[in-house]
Amino acid sequence: MRRYVIAGNWKMNMTPAKAQALIAEMKPLVAGKDNCDVVLCVPAIDIPAAIEAAKGSNIKIGAENVHFKASGAYTGEISAEMLVEAGVEYVVIGHSERRQYFGETDQTVNLRTLAALNAGLKAIVCVGETLEQRELGYTETLLKFQTKMALTNVTAEQMKNVIIAYEPVWAIGTGVTATADQADEGNGYVRAAVAEMFGAEIAEQTIVQYGGSMNDKNAAELLSKENVDGGLIGGASLKSAAFSAIVDAAQ
Ligand code: 13P
Repeated sequence: MRRYVIAGNWKMNMTPAKAQALIAEMKPLVAGKDNCDVVLCVPAIDIPAAIEAAKGSNIKIGAENVHFKASGAYTGEISAEMLVEAGVEYVVIGHSERRQYFGETDQTVNLRTLAALNAGLKAIVCVGETLEQRELGYTETLLKFQTKMALTNVTAEQMKNVIIAYEPVWAIGTGVTATADQADEGNGYVRAAVAEMFGAEIAEQTIVQYGGSMNDKNAAELLSKENVDGGLIGGASLKSAAFSAIVDAAQ
């Protein structure tokens, strides 16, 4: 049995003070929801405040990116060791916004994934097709390729700390959610790629989330699908009621 993982991705939202207030609001709403792991991936500057605010609760804190080098002349970047020492447990890697706006490639996604896993972080690796790629019929090919590239040189043992989020680019921030069947199918392609690399047993154990306009209205249907083991939630993770309702849907 795979556990649900419901993760928020705050993107570039919330100051440290606002982060503290939102987490304080969320804590009682998600308390005792033991059927799933609850994670909030927050801007780097918010991490200390978020960790402090989440103390004594079931909310785990994640980062939104990590650099692939251990240290050095990489102005503006943050290493895996820095995140670990700050108390971070998860990190989002290869989000489509980073691929689109910050030159992230399948190769850098792979290097960041390895750096995160080698430091003991749980990596939430994002894959997803654009609308154009879907219309051309490349969804399966692309999802499998992105998944395999991201997981190159990852060990079978490290796969325990890998979560893959299928996020169709056309569904992110658009209000257009994939249908539950489309989400299940996309997640199924990701799982098939994991099976081709690591075998059926590891593929069965790997958590594959769906992300893209997931909210309190559509979460239950999406999460009811065989291959959907949780969600990576943008906009709806900025509101305590909507986010906690998604956590409820995973019970
Ligand atoms: P939205 O939930 O705002 O569509 O964002 C999804 C996402 O990109 C999560 O990483």
